[in-house]
Amino acid sequence: MNKKGILALGLSTMMLFSMVGCSSGGGKGDSAELPKIGATVYKADDNFISSVARELKTNAEGVAELTVDDSQNDQAKQLDQIDTMITKGAKVLAINLVDPKAAESVIEKAEAADLPVIFFNKEPDADALASYDKAYYVGTDSKESGVMQGEVIAKQWEANKEKWDKNGDGKIQYVMIKGEPGHPDAEARTEWSVKTLNEKGIETEELAIDTGMWDAAKATEKMDAWLAKFGDKIEFVICNNDGMASGAVASLEKEGYFKGDKFMPVVGVDAIPEIVTLIEEGKVTGTVLNDAKNQAKAVIDLSLNLANGKDPVEGTDWKLDDNKALRVSYVGITKDNLDDAK
Ligand code: GAL
Ligand code: CA
Repeated sequence: MNKKGILALGLSTMMLFSMVGCSSGGGKGDSAELPKIGATVYKADDNFISSVARELKTNAEGVAELTVDDSQNDQAKQLDQIDTMITKGAKVLAINLVDPKAAESVIEKAEAADLPVIFFNKEPDADALASYDKAYYVGTDSKESGVMQGEVIAKQWEANKEKWDKNGDGKIQYVMIKGEPGHPDAEARTEWSVKTLNEKGIETEELAIDTGMWDAAKATEKMDAWLAKFGDKIEFVICNNDGMASGAVASLEKEGYFKGDKFMPVVGVDAIPEIVTLIEEGKVTGTVLNDAKNQAKAVIDLSLNLANGKDPVEGTDWKLDDNKALRVSYVGITKDNLDDAK
């Protein structure tokens, strides 16, 4: 090959390389171009939150480069994770706070980096949300879950009270297994489940209340102790979530409940797959669907818009309220409408 030939070959090879570079840079769906969303969950082994995390990933597939960190129930760790996300070029932060009171610290970081932040599941105070124009909340109306749980209990009690009112005094003697104290969902569910019963004219008597921290094993321990203390004086077990309801059922089963005539009504909130099975088996009487699918979808929809500098709800059916909060509805679930939960 002469000098000219070598030069031509060299040139065409160079062109080929630059074309390859071009096509890989311009391809649609190229991950180098997808906006980075930095998400955290407060605790990855929380029953309900694990569904939310899974749904976040499903919704982000092919449209965003999503990372989901597990904050392992440690607020300091979560703040460090947020620093790292910002350093790595996140365009939006999607944060499931460990401590609902820590929103200000997160907002400080987001604001310093001029990034939008979407809180989800653990609702920050309205003041914190209002303090930064790029802060949003995706979740539910906590009170609604308490009211719906009260309605589920009322309906079932009315239909079964001949049998369930064991001491025949017309009141429901109940024990309450509460979620994390101070968590807006735990506080509202505890208050409004019972208030709703009372507003419907059903009298109640609280035998015991304590926190199970959303956790099945902790709920089993509580229930073990209460069964030893009160036995069949308990007429209803009200749980702030399904994880704890399943823990209570495990305790009741050890004591021979759900066999023959030995029965105890138990209710939860979330409609996790495990509870759907327990409802089918007649071991849980009802729950309230906490819609992980739509909450996760809303987080990703808003994130994509914000990453592209658009209005957060542009091109979607979502609505933000005056506090920049988006609330997905709950649905009361019993054996009659189990398909809604599935
Ligand atoms: C609630 C849910 C609980 C727990 C909690 C964590 O909405 O019902 O099961 O996951 O969030 O913040
Ligand atoms: Ca009674």
